[in-house]
Order: sequence, then structure tokens, then C-alpha cells
Amino acid sequence: MKEYRHPEEPFRIKSIEPIQLLPREKREEVLRRAHYNIFKIKAEEIYIDLLTDSGTGAMSAAQWAALMLGDESYAGARSFYRFEEIVKEITGKKIIIPTHQGRVAENVLFSVMLKKGDIVPNNTHFDTTGANVQHKQGIAMNLPCPEAASDDEIPFKGNMDTHRLEEVINEKGANKIPVVFMTVTNNSVGGQAVSMSNIREASKICHNYGIPFFFDCARFAENAWFIKKYEPGYERKSIKEIAQEMFSYSDGALMSAKKDGLANMGGFMALNDEDLARKATELLIVIEGFPTYGGMSGRDIDAVAAGLREVLSEDYLSYRIGQIEYFGRILEEAGAPIIKPTGGHAVFIDAGKMLPHIPHDQFPGQSLTVELYREGGIRVVEIGSLMFGGYDPVTGEKISAVRELVRLAVPRRVYTGSHLDYVADCVRRIAKRKESLKGYQITRQATLLRHFTAEMKEVEAAQMAVK
Ligand code: F0G
Repeated sequence: MKEYRHPEEPFRIKSIEPIQLLPREKREEVLRRAHYNIFKIKAEEIYIDLLTDSGTGAMSAAQWAALMLGDESYAGARSFYRFEEIVKEITGKKIIIPTHQGRVAENVLFSVMLKKGDIVPNNTHFDTTGANVQHKQGIAMNLPCPEAASDDEIPFKGNMDTHRLEEVINEKGANKIPVVFMTVTNNSVGGQAVSMSNIREASKICHNYGIPFFFDCARFAENAWFIKKYEPGYERKSIKEIAQEMFSYSDGALMSAKKDGLANMGGFMALNDEDLARKATELLIVIEGFPTYGGMSGRDIDAVAAGLREVLSEDYLSYRIGQIEYFGRILEEAGAPIIKPTGGHAVFIDAGKMLPHIPHDQFPGQSLTVELYREGGIRVVEIGSLMFGGYDPVTGEKISAVRELVRLAVPRRVYTGSHLDYVADCVRRIAKRKESLKGYQITRQATLLRHFTAEMKEVEAAQMAVK
């Protein structure tokens, strides 16, 4: 008997969506047709989809009801004012500009803030954030804290290396750094949280040098929950109070509301600088929409507004984070080495450790990803040398990822404890025969973001032995 169990859901189910597991031969056929790339598999061929927690959550009855209140007026819609009110309440910022998802907010902000060669430090850029900095010919610099790479089970491994931040400002000059970002939670290092003290420290350094300090706040409520649970002095504060304090140290924020907005689409920019907001608004009108709808329909804006109120619930957050913790424990028990502590939205399996017989350039993470679909119709995503590796465009040298990870992201309010137990059972069966798993070889790839479209084939055992 396990002495821990899946947390009780603080909701009951009102509407369901059937899912089915295809027979094994069919799954094998699907894999062949998809050239072993899970992005090429149809959603209806998936049983449990853990590809992302972004835009894949279930809305509440209150959110569905809010859709009916959606005001589709082109300008000045009621939906916008409801949305603006809650975003202002949480972030404390003066100007709220909606966008249809996070990366548009990134594109707009960097377009008006960056000059060629500017540097943007971040605890760790999410891939679209880094790509948007580079798209404006800026340099996306990651400054994770040293603990991020350790195997120790300590809280706040998402922190920024603030010592390094100050060094970078001194080395490069504050005039080369138009903005510093803090990503909460830190998705790219395992959804790990950032502490209030680290936020305060980074903000202080930025402000000493006159540099604006911004949040990438896609998972701000999950981050606030970790602060409440693990940072002394916050036990008695509400999630809203903690979030408000976090935002009080910042000059602005960008959000993908597809995560902690509990909605299927949406995002925003929250700013205090009126000149910056004016420039951002002008560009927004050209590429996204009028500033009271920013690429969203009125009903979507209302769904986000309702979601932002719900996500502050402690019952919801302790269930949500408890679910991820439970998932981590059962996966570990099933024989998968995982990144610890578990973060806010996903469990990461270290496939490099689990499958040491598969070399980096044969993608151990991809091997496990394919096997999870083959074994149980489960879709996860490789975050290793397939996603981050390739060839350096300048030197032509081969690049491998630091760790060969597989992310099992959990959509919000979608899967039950038994779904997660099922995934762990599949992992257990795979772990028992892990030596038989084969590496993969790319047969076709694009030059940028190759993991989305690459075609692959299994490496034969004989070839693997030669390696
Ligand atoms: N920032 C963070 C920290 C993210 O995780 C994401 C998206 C974005 C920005 C971009 O937002 O998708 O609305 O344009 N993350 C998703 C993921 C895609 O799977 O982790 P978007």
C-alpha cells in the first residue's frame, strides 16, 4: 500500500470528452506513418496527451458561463473592462494590453524595446521568448542559479543567479540591457519556482542600474503557491497577496494566459511606462488587433478574466501542485529517474540516465517518447538533443543538450489520478525492458526548430553496438 495518494479534486466532472486507446498494431502503424515524430500524430490517435499544459486545460462552469457574456464589440467591449480589472488587481500595473497568446506579447514588446545587439538576461528564456529576442537581433542570455543543475531536492531551483546578473550588467554596461526578465515558474529548468527573495534581489539590482525588470508570468499562481509553501514568512498570506507582492517588484509583465489563465487561448502585456505602452499599442493595432481585444474574441477575454480569478484559489493550487508531486512519486517508483523536486506543471524524466546505452546523438529522450506512445498511446515531448541539438550555424560543430529530458506536462483539471496511474504502469513496463529500447536517427530535418517536423527511424541494434 502506498502511504500517499492522488489529491482529491476540488471539483466534480460535468462534461466529458471520450478518449480511446488504439490497438497495439494500429499504434505501431501510426508511429511509422508519423516517422516517429509525435508532433505528426493526430490527437484522436492519442490516449493520454501530456504534450503540453498550454491551452489544454478544462474550463469551469463559471468560465463557460462567462463565454455567453462575451461582448464582441470591436472597440471598448465590456469583456475587456472585466479582464482589465482583474489583471490590474493582480499585477498592479496601469496599462493592460491583451494579445491572443504569450509569444505575441513577446514579439510586440521586444520590437519596441530592443535594438540590434542588446542583451536580455532571464533566469531562463522559454524557447519562444528567446526566439523573439533573437528575431529582433538581440542576445537572449540565460542566468539560472547554480542549483538548477544539481540533483539536490531543494526548493526554488528556478531562481536567477543574481550575482551573475550584476556581473553581466557591469561587464556589458547597463545601456546594452534594455530589460531583465524573470520567468515564473521557470519552465525550461523543470517548472521550478522562483523565491520572493530572489525576485526582490533581482529587482533591486535592476533598479540600481536603471534597468526595467519584467516578468514572464505564464505560471505566476503556481509560483505563488510554492512561495507560500516553502518560503518563511508567507505561510499565512493569500495567493493573491503573494502574487501582488511579486508583481510589486516589477515594472511590467507578459503573460501567456493559456497556462494560469486557465483558458484555451489568451495573453497580455501589463505595463506602467506610458511611452512604452503607446509604442506597443501602435504595433499591436498593425499586427494583432485593436487594444481592447488584441486578437481575442470577447468571449475568450471573459474566459481568461474568470480563469484569473479562479486560479488564485488555494484549494485548486494545492490539488494542482499535489497532483504533479504525486505523479513524480509514482513515476519514480515505476523506475524513471526524475528531476526533483517536481515543479508546477510537469514531471521531467531524465532519459539520459534511464537509457545510458543510447548515445546523445541517437536521442534517448526521443526513444522513451516513442516507446510511451507504443506502449500506452501516451504523448509526451522530448526536451533534449532533438529539440536543442543540431549543428552550430557558425562553427558547424555538433551540439548536444545538457540533459536528455522527457517532459510529461499535465493539462489543468483534465486527467484523474487513475489516468496518471495508467501512465506510471506503462513506464514500469518500459523500465523492465529498457535495455531493449533503440536509438533514433534523423532522416529529414529543418534548419530551425527541427523537432516539430523532423522525420526519424530506429537505429538497428547492430549499428548501436558499433557506436
Ligand atoms: N513563456 C513561457 C514560460 C511559456 O511556457 C510559454 C509557452 C510562453 C511564454 C509562450 O506562450 O504559447 O501562449 O505563445 N509554453 C508552452 C509549453 C507552449 O508547452 O510550455 P504562448
